[in-house]
Amino acid sequence: KFEGLAETPPMGWNSWNKFACDVDENLIKETADAMVASGMKDAGYEYIVIDDCWHGERDSLGFIHPDPERFPSGIKALADYIHSKGLKFGIYSDAGWETCGGRPGSRGREYQDAMTYASWGVDYLKYDWCNTEGLKAEGAYLTMRDALYEAGRPIVFSICEWGDNDPWEWAGPIGHLWRTTGDIYNCFDCEEDHGTWSSWGVLQIIDMRPGIRTAAGPGHWNDPDMMEVGNGMSVSEDRAHFALWAIQAAPLIAGNDIRNMSPETVEILTNKDVIAIDQDTLGVQGYKHIDEEDYEVWVKPLAGGEVAVLFLNRTEDPMDITFDWKANKMTDPDFGHSYDYAADQYSIYNVHTHKKSGTTKKALKATIPGHDVLMYRLTKK
Ligand code: DGJ
Repeated sequence: KFEGLAETPPMGWNSWNKFACDVDENLIKETADAMVASGMKDAGYEYIVIDDCWHGERDSLGFIHPDPERFPSGIKALADYIHSKGLKFGIYSDAGWETCGGRPGSRGREYQDAMTYASWGVDYLKYDWCNTEGLKAEGAYLTMRDALYEAGRPIVFSICEWGDNDPWEWAGPIGHLWRTTGDIYNCFDCEEDHGTWSSWGVLQIIDMRPGIRTAAGPGHWNDPDMMEVGNGMSVSEDRAHFALWAIQAAPLIAGNDIRNMSPETVEILTNKDVIAIDQDTLGVQGYKHIDEEDYEVWVKPLAGGEVAVLFLNRTEDPMDITFDWKANKMTDPDFGHSYDYAADQYSIYNVHTHKKSGTTKKALKATIPGHDVLMYRLTKK
């Protein structure tokens, strides 16, 4: 695969969560404009990704073309527009014969499609896993990886087989990120039953794949799915969702209509202190230091000996907490980074209020609103 890409978790926007198959070139162009105007570009968002249903038909030689009614100017012109805004452009295909939305898949056309994408100026490919009967995931993703590599344009490769084939065990050398679960759903604590499959709330997703954090690192990330921030959850839930993605070093791919955002949504998505925790160059996915039914404490080691700590209230009611730092030595179970607050004093910075909040000398006493978090960045004094 192309090395040197996605050294920190990719940041961007994807059309699926909000728009599903209702995509066209105006939506994509307006979204690129909004990414600049809203401050998201300045905050680090880079990729504008069209998900399923941009496709028209293959021509007699097998080349794929976009839907001529929805993308009359063609994909190359759209990519040029996005590049002119200083952003990068992503597209979607599927390892099977058809996409989940019933459009042409890349099976048997991998090298041809990769060359087409490269000629259009594509920078990112999300590669789905519908209609793949009889295919083996690792081999299918390997084929497209090699096709992209041969096409010669550096393209971030996003693997989307929902964690069904344990991609954390094999996808590191193949893709830059891989989905770990089924689809997210715009809800904090729910499961949505679709008959043959389910989609999942924020809490369900964070619970789903324990023990895979060692697979993640610079250039190869676990992907707990695109975000639902701004799609209808409460401000507390959106804040918690975003912070939980950051503490997991997850890709930060917005999934809302960024042309029309409330001030609260903009504030959550562009919070530079939370983003800095996600994008930290050490590239370590956080772990749970305390894992109780209603309450969790997450820890993410950061570069330079700093550390991020997140307190999660899983219930709907406010929760009073007392946390004695000195009695909570934090040692990373996989990577060994250790923080001993009895031996060393750390200053505490609240990444949501953007204020210093004392030191680890004194126990933390605070109230976490329902379905919300407190998140701090700690620096050794
Ligand atoms: C399934 C994926 O998990 C979703 O994110 C989205 O890409 C849809 N397929 C599109 O059909």
